[in-house]
Amino acid sequence: ERLKKIRNFSIIAHVDHGKSTLADRLMEFCNAITEREKEDQLLDTLEIEKERGITIKLQAIRLNYKAKDGENYILHLIDTPGHVDFGYEVSRSLTACEGALLLIDATQGIEAQTLATFWQALNLDLEIIPVINKIDLPSADVDRIKRQIEDVLGLDPEEAILASGKAGIGIEEILEAIVKKIPHPKGDESKPLKALIFDSYYDPYRGAVAFIRVFDGEIKKGTKIRLMSTGKEFEVTEVGAQMPKMTALDSLKAGDVGYVAASIKDVKDIRVGDTITDAKNPTPEPIPGFRPAKPMVYAGLYPTGSTTFEDMRDALEKYSINDAALTYEVESSPALGLGFRCGFLGLLHMEIVQERLEREYDIELITTAPNVIYKVKLKTGEEIEVRNPSQLPDISKIQAILEPYIEADIISPSEYIGAIMQLVQEKRGIQKGFDYLDKNTAHLRYEIPMAEVLFDFHDKLKTATRGYASFDYDFIGYKEGDLVKIDIKINGEPVDALSFIVHKDKAYRVGRNIVDKMKEVIPKQLFEVRIQATIGSKVIASAKIAPLRRDVLAKCYGGDVTRKKKLLEKQKEGKKRMKQFGKVELPQEAFLSILKAD
Ligand code: GTP
Repeated sequence: ERLKKIRNFSIIAHVDHGKSTLADRLMEFCNAITEREKEDQLLDTLEIEKERGITIKLQAIRLNYKAKDGENYILHLIDTPGHVDFGYEVSRSLTACEGALLLIDATQGIEAQTLATFWQALNLDLEIIPVINKIDLPSADVDRIKRQIEDVLGLDPEEAILASGKAGIGIEEILEAIVKKIPHPKGDESKPLKALIFDSYYDPYRGAVAFIRVFDGEIKKGTKIRLMSTGKEFEVTEVGAQMPKMTALDSLKAGDVGYVAASIKDVKDIRVGDTITDAKNPTPEPIPGFRPAKPMVYAGLYPTGSTTFEDMRDALEKYSINDAALTYEVESSPALGLGFRCGFLGLLHMEIVQERLEREYDIELITTAPNVIYKVKLKTGEEIEVRNPSQLPDISKIQAILEPYIEADIISPSEYIGAIMQLVQEKRGIQKGFDYLDKNTAHLRYEIPMAEVLFDFHDKLKTATRGYASFDYDFIGYKEGDLVKIDIKINGEPVDALSFIVHKDKAYRVGRNIVDKMKEVIPKQLFEVRIQATIGSKVIASAKIAPLRRDVLAKCYGGDVTRKKKLLEKQKEGKKRMKQFGKVELPQEAFLSILKAD
């Protein structure tokens, strides 16, 4: 009986199709939101998330809804992150649901992420309710979206709800559909506890907190829990739900969604996808599908300016309490000194970590260009992982280098197909599929080396398609590649932190471009600076930066006061992201030149 009054659902959508706005409306309708809270979109908590308009952390909100049938329902709205870096988290939070609202922007139609999450939801057998959003806009084309819903997703277009989160249209209809169409959770309170962790965060008061979906049994204060992937045990100090404030409850039972705190010091103990059970009365089988978070991208982070290695180590230690996906280990670079090689889920994750270290921990740092993980087969038969290009073994010892591949979905108006094909070919992509979502919308599928996507692929795709194409991807595995390492020398000295790995066919072009790019970004010094790109002992490109002329300096300082101030201001800014190499000052951009060199 209790279970019949519960519904667990997510909203899945492409970025900017209006998920957060709709979520706020649903909360407002269920009186779960106060005026003050309305100001900041509630689901996005962290400052950076808000600035970027991207939802990163999953959360679960409990709503009380009195339906038209006169019954009171408990609805759990489980948020999903909207970026490919966090694909695994999305799959876990969908596992916690019985249904999903598939939100489609009426002016945009189906995009790459819509399709990717739709397939995930379908594979998990979720009930999917299509919602056509932003119908308040004059350019909304509801008929086109309906045809897409039928032709592409194979859903009944007549079931689609017309809505506007912004104008508050269709909100009650959505809530009614959730109650009527999404099945209630099944489960057995009397069985041993079995709960899925689909998110975690660090709370200064509660310690590491897990967001869970209970499948069987019951969890409450005092329960001795066991985390099944590690066998670690903790005693529960609090269970509750976000309403949307964190609110303590007596217990969470089969079918419920909520949070658990158990004086856990480190979020790394609460792994997304892991199963929580009762240590005294454990469930025999964990929930399938657990996978430890695995970094896909590595980069070196080095202290600079007034930040010391110790400052940085402390900051990383503190920061990683709240980020289970970040890995780091000490790394020593002849050029940059002592720093850390960090592993990230993807490029966005890397940017977030970097920004938060700078902003919240006052760390001044320089990052090396990110790289994928290479697998190297040695002639001895041994296979090693290379996370830092400068550590690639000597070519004479290498049998083969393998690189990771992704499968990419690209959706775009058909007029840009030619431009996309050309771009993907430059990126060594192999076409795997091609179809039309409707008369004017093409869907292309490719296998592309992941390294090629790290370098400015997304920007180039957007430029080639005037911003219309959308893109989503999945890691598929490793393949052998004809790859070489390029080293960069400054005044004859190799700078290990600038080494990178690239496909042989592109080596000369990329070498040339990177040298030119560095010539642009390295400030003039009082002496000549020589930059060279080399493969082994062979120089493939070089450039010279002429020394600074004295009168230029003099002119700068002779100017009026405000200009001088500005200049000093600028220099200070610049200082932050500089690293001394021998006598040469290298700005941050120099280390990232490779990202723009292709
Ligand atoms: P991510 O969190 O980045 O995935 O985005 P989101 O899908 O949560 O989108 P969000 O709710 O932040 O809305 C994106 C933009 O669309 C914002 O500028 C909203 O004001 C606007 N928007 C959202 N819903 C509507 C709507 O129903 N009508 C109109 N006209 N604009 C909307």
